[in-house]
Amino acid sequence: MMSDVKKIAVIGGDGTGPEVTAEAIKVLNSVAKLEGFQFDQTVFDWGGDRLLQTGAALPEDALDQLRTFDAILLGAVGHPEVAPGILERKLLLDLRFGLDQYINLRPVKLFPGVETPLKNKSTEDIDFVVVRENTEDMYCGAGGFMHKGTPHEVATQTAIYTRHGCERCIRYAFEYTMKRNNPKGKRLTLVAKTNVLTIGHDLWWRTFNEVAQEYPEVETDYNHVDACCMWIVKNPEYYDVIVTTNMFGDIITDLSGIIQGGMGVAAGGNINPDPGGVSMFEPMGGSAPKYTGQGVINPIAAINAAGMLLDQIDQPNASQRVMQAIETVTGTKMKSQNAGKMGYSTSEIGDLVCAAL
Ligand code: IPM
Ligand code: MG
Repeated sequence: MMSDVKKIAVIGGDGTGPEVTAEAIKVLNSVAKLEGFQFDQTVFDWGGDRLLQTGAALPEDALDQLRTFDAILLGAVGHPEVAPGILERKLLLDLRFGLDQYINLRPVKLFPGVETPLKNKSTEDIDFVVVRENTEDMYCGAGGFMHKGTPHEVATQTAIYTRHGCERCIRYAFEYTMKRNNPKGKRLTLVAKTNVLTIGHDLWWRTFNEVAQEYPEVETDYNHVDACCMWIVKNPEYYDVIVTTNMFGDIITDLSGIIQGGMGVAAGGNINPDPGGVSMFEPMGGSAPKYTGQGVINPIAAINAAGMLLDQIDQPNASQRVMQAIETVTGTKMKSQNAGKMGYSTSEIGDLVCAAL
């Protein structure tokens, strides 16, 4: 039966990206065998090297090709010979926008054995999810320069928010909160800046409160983004699910990423939850080009991304199994989550996770 074969596009990307995605694929193949389904993986060499050789990070029909897959696994973007900002836009953001992956999902969970910089906070305290809008805001690239390079230069970069854009994100966040079904209580916190962004975030605020009427079981709350940054550090245990705008979401997900142990473990999904939508999962870390080929980078984040991918392609048991195996490995095997200090090589960690499945 065709439906038992899941088609995955693998974009290893730059630097150490291909090394960590290789471990994630290893784990995907192992868990598929155990759960009785199959993967068909296609590897694409898109990224910085391709850009330098051909002038384009992605081929022209990249989106059409990707639309034929069940999901995408992305390694990392960032090449030392490509100016900062180019690959981010020409690969990552073009894919997010082109495939209308309007949700950026960032689970913030401290795995056992992983060190957090927060004093006196444990795995019980750090376990929440950020739902970040992923297609609007200042990320649209709307704006321009006037008198560029002169003392009278003017630069504008406009934050664009639409009812459609914020409503679909807010709805997803409510649905996600229901599905997550936190035993401590279902709570969705809107994070914005309604006291200053009295236009765009007024739209978010009104939409949030309207949609909330349909979810009486979910307790709702609101934080200004600056206050949220304090509370994430002081009382991370307060949060269940956060929903926020693209730009603020970018910032609070790095803050959240470091309290869960940083780049070696944190992962995210760029999700198009609509029927036929193709979602893309990625470890949060960068391409770390100077470590390429040394086998010192932590693949847990990429494996975590693969675990999220499994959930998205309707393999919740396989996803659970991967997440549990990650916890076994971080909790009982690894010395550290930092590159070169794990006590194992990149591929040995992949093997350990496979063994723990
Ligand atoms: C992220 C990253 C990206 C973003 C960059 C690389 C464009 O920081 O996924 O959070 O700003 O969204
Ligand atoms: Mg970011």
